[in-house]
Amino acid sequence: MAIPVTEVAIVTGASRGLGEALAAQLLAPARRLICIARSPNAALAAQAQASGAPLDYRLHDLADAEATARLAQALGETLREAAAAGTASPISRFVLVNNAGVIEPIGRIESLAAAPLARALQVNLAAAMLLTAAFLSATDAAGADRRILNISSGAARHPLAGWSAYCSSKAALDMFTRCIAAEHAGRPDAPRVCSLAPGVLDTGMQATIRTAAPADFPQVERFRKLAAEGALASPAQVAQRIVAYLEGDDFGAREIDDIRDR
Ligand SMILES: NC(=O)c1ccc[n+]([C@@H]2O[C@H](COP(=O)([O-])OP(=O)(O)OC[C@H]3O[C@@H](n4cnc5c(N)ncnc54)[C@H](OP(=O)(O)O)[C@@H]3O)[C@@H](O)[C@H]2O)c1
Repeated sequence: MAIPVTEVAIVTGASRGLGEALAAQLLAPARRLICIARSPNAALAAQAQASGAPLDYRLHDLADAEATARLAQALGETLREAAAAGTASPISRFVLVNNAGVIEPIGRIESLAAAPLARALQVNLAAAMLLTAAFLSATDAAGADRRILNISSGAARHPLAGWSAYCSSKAALDMFTRCIAAEHAGRPDAPRVCSLAPGVLDTGMQATIRTAAPADFPQVERFRKLAAEGALASPAQVAQRIVAYLEGDDFGAREIDDIRDR
C-alpha cells in the first residue's frame, strides 16, 4: 500500500554540495520533495526510486528573474494542489529551503561587472524572496506547520574584502528572514523562519574560493589552508544536523543562527 504524503519540502540548489546533501536527507516516502537547480542529479533520482520517495526535480536557472517569477507561480500552484489533495491525509507540514547560492563575483567592488553582480543578487537574494512569497501565499490557508530555512553564511555577519556581492546578499537574506518574522508576528499561523549559517563546507563553492587571486580575495590563503588541513566540514554530516534542527520543536525560535552553535 502506498504511504500517504503528509509533507511537502522544496530545496533549491539540490544538484550538488549542501543542497544535494539536504535533499538526500529529506527524501522520504511520506514527503514530496521538490528540488530546483540548473543541472540534474542522477544519484538523488536513484535514491528516490530505491526508497519509494516522491521526487519532483525541476531544472531551472534562478539567475533568470522572469523565469523565476514563473517558477514561483508554478510552485505555488503545486503547493495549493498538494494542500487541496490532502483531505484524506492532510499535509501537516510545508518546508522551503532556500539553499542555492553563488560566491562569485569575487574581487574589489571597483572590479565587478554589472551582469555577474546582478546574478549574485538574483540567485542569493531575489530568488529566495520570490519563492518565499509564493510559498507563503500558497500555504496561507492550509492550516499546516510552515518552515522556511534560508541558508546564510558567516560572511553575512562579518565583512570580507573581495566578497562584497556575497556578504551583502547574504546579509540581506538575514534581514529578509527577520522581515518575514516581523510580518507574521503575533499570528497563530506564523511560519517558523531561520537564516542559518552552515559553517565552512567541503563543496564546489569552496573549490571556487580557493582559485581566487590574492589581489581579488586577500584571505584566500586562509581558505586554502583550511582545505589542506582537512578542516572543511562534510556536507552530509552538516546536512544531517541541519535537518534535525529544521525538524526540531525550537526551529524558528532564533531568526538568525549558526549550525555550529547548535
Ligand atoms: N560551502 C561553504 O563553505 C558555505 C559556507 C557558508 C554558506 N554556504 C552556503 O550554502 C549554500 C550551498 O553552498 P554549496 O557550498 O553547497 O555550493 P555549491 O556546491 O556551489 O552548490 C550550489 C548549488 O546552488 C545551485 N545554483 C547555483 N546557481 C544557480 C542558479 N543560477 N540556478 C539554480 N541553482 C543554482 C547549484 O546548482 P546548479 O549549478 O546545478 O544550478 C548547486 O546545486 C549556499 O547558499 C552557500 O552560500 C556555503
